[in-house]
Order: sequence, then structure tokens, then C-alpha cells
Amino acid sequence: MILVPGGRGQLGHDLALLSDDVRAVSSAELDVTAVTADDVRGYAAVVNCAAYTAVDAAETDEDRAFEVNAVGPGLLARACASVGIPLIHVSTDYVFSGDGARPYEPSDDVGPKTAYGRTKLEGERRVLEEGGWVVRTSWVYGAHGSNFVKTMAALEFSRPSLSVVDDQRGTPTWSRDLAAGLLELASVLPSTRLLHATGGGETTWFGFAQAIFTELGADPERVTPCTTADFPRPAPRPAYSVLSGAAWAAAGLRPLPHWRSALSEAFRAGVVAPRA
Ligand SMILES: NC(=O)c1ccc[n+]([C@@H]2O[C@H](COP(=O)([O-])OP(=O)(O)OC[C@H]3O[C@@H](n4cnc5c(N)ncnc54)[C@H](OP(=O)(O)O)[C@@H]3O)[C@@H](O)[C@H]2O)c1
Repeated sequence: MILVPGGRGQLGHDLALLSDDVRAVSSAELDVTAVTADDVRGYAAVVNCAAYTAVDAAETDEDRAFEVNAVGPGLLARACASVGIPLIHVSTDYVFSGDGARPYEPSDDVGPKTAYGRTKLEGERRVLEEGGWVVRTSWVYGAHGSNFVKTMAALEFSRPSLSVVDDQRGTPTWSRDLAAGLLELASVLPSTRLLHATGGGETTWFGFAQAIFTELGADPERVTPCTTADFPRPAPRPAYSVLSGAAWAAAGLRPLPHWRSALSEAFRAGVVAPRA
């Protein structure tokens, strides 16, 4: 049985959906900031989906974000090491500066520009130090929880048109595809400990929004491009977030499907609930 802390988030939900061998637990059942060896003993592996994911809020709440994103993974890693089971920990493109111009490899220099990114980077360091696996991903959406796909679906319904930023590049990742990849990783446990797993290809938020409108059966021309400067946020967004899947494939793991076909598949699977 695989223990999944943060099991009620979007990724945790899909892990539970894909396998009967997963025990996905809420933060009330297992708080990663207070985890001990007793909490993980008896499991075959732990896949940590618990995180403080509110990127803007973390700018003024970094201490709490650090507890969940760095202290918690460190405790989990030590607990898993002490009972001899693998820990797979999920991290983010925000550990990079976002100033790159080609897909980031796991070995590329990091340089987070946000509190969220800094706390996630420290979590990675603590997990790797204890011999765990770290999987960075990006632009995750799924049926459970709030995300860009659901936001766009709501705006498509309520607004005649909308502007979406076209100068931030990255790759959408369907949480179900990532969950399948993490389960494969848990069964293979490759010698490479730091990996990237996202959908294939790349786009901008504008391109992603147009594709969502298409999937909704709406006219994608109702989405118009704008720039990051038009929408200032408390936490700066990376301009370039594409993560290379080369190390993932080299480790013998199946590449995740291309982001565009994954979006169609996600809609077929009901990622956005039909309107009543
Ligand atoms: N979403 C993205 O676009 C994205 C992009 C890159 C990387 N990631 C990473 O992917 C992973 C999964 O993200 P997600 O989108 O599934 O996140 P999510 O939907 O926000 O879920 C995170 C979960 O963490 C739980 N949690 C928070 N504090 C906790 C604590 N102290 N102890 C135990 N659980 C706690 C929350 O449970 P409660 O609500 O019950 O407190 C929540 O269910 C995270 O590591 C995230 O950093 C996400």
C-alpha cells in the first residue's frame, strides 16, 4: 500500500482514483509538518502530494509555506529512510528563475524568484539528502480542486471575451497523467533521483485558454492575448517554465502524453463538470 499525504488535492485524488493500492489522506488525517516514522511504517512507499500551493499568499506567509513545503518533506524523508521505504516527492517549475530559453533539465541551475519557489526548493534539498525521489512538474489541472481549466470554463460562461497572458511559456499537465507517471516511478525506482514530468510540448497561458475554449465548444477567438505587465501579481510568474522530460525517458519511464491530447482526454473524462 502506498501512502499519499495531501491526498485530497488534485494530484492526490487522481492517485487514489488510479490505484486500489493507494491510501490518500487529508491534512487532518496526516499533517506532514508533524510526521514521524510511526505514520509511514508498514507502507511500501510514500508519494507526497501535500504542499502549500497558494503562490501569491506565500509571499506574505513564507513561514507557513516553509513549514509545509520544506520542513514537512524533510520529516517525511527522514521517516521513510528510517523505516527503509522510498519517498517520492512532487516539486515545481518555480524552483527555476524562468529566464531560460530552452527546456530546463533537472541539472540546470535553480534560482527561485518567489517565496513558494524558495520553500519548494528547500523541500527538494531535504528529500534528496535522505535518498528520496523528487519529481518537478508544472501547470497541473485535474477534476478536484481549483485550477486554470476550471477558471477558464467559468469565465467562458460568464464573459463575452477575455484576455490571457501570451508571454509566459510552459506545459499544462493533467493530474491523472502525472499520477500514472508517479505510480510507474514508484514501481521502477530508477537510480536518477531528480526528474521532470509534465505533459509533452509547450504553449502559453493564452494558447492553453484557446484550447480550453475549443474543448468547451466555444469560439477560441473570444480569447485575446495580453502581456504579464497587464496583470501584475504579488508573486512574479516565470516567463519560461518548460521542463525537459529527457531524464524521465532516460530513466526508462513512459513520457506523459502531449498537453493538447491530454486536454481532450481530460475533457472526455469530465475534468469540467457539465453545466446543469
Ligand atoms: N497545481 C499546480 O499547478 C502545480 C504546479 C507544479 C507543481 N505542483 C506541485 O504538485 C503537488 C500537488 O499539487 P496539487 O495541485 O495537487 O495541490 P493542491 O490541490 O493544492 O493540494 C495540496 C494538498 O496539500 C494538503 N496540505 C496542505 N498542508 C498540509 C499539511 N500540513 N499536511 C498534509 N497535507 C497538507 C492540502 O490539504 P488540505 O486542503 O486538507 O489542507 C491539499 O489537499 C504539490 O507538491 C505542488 O507543489 C503543483
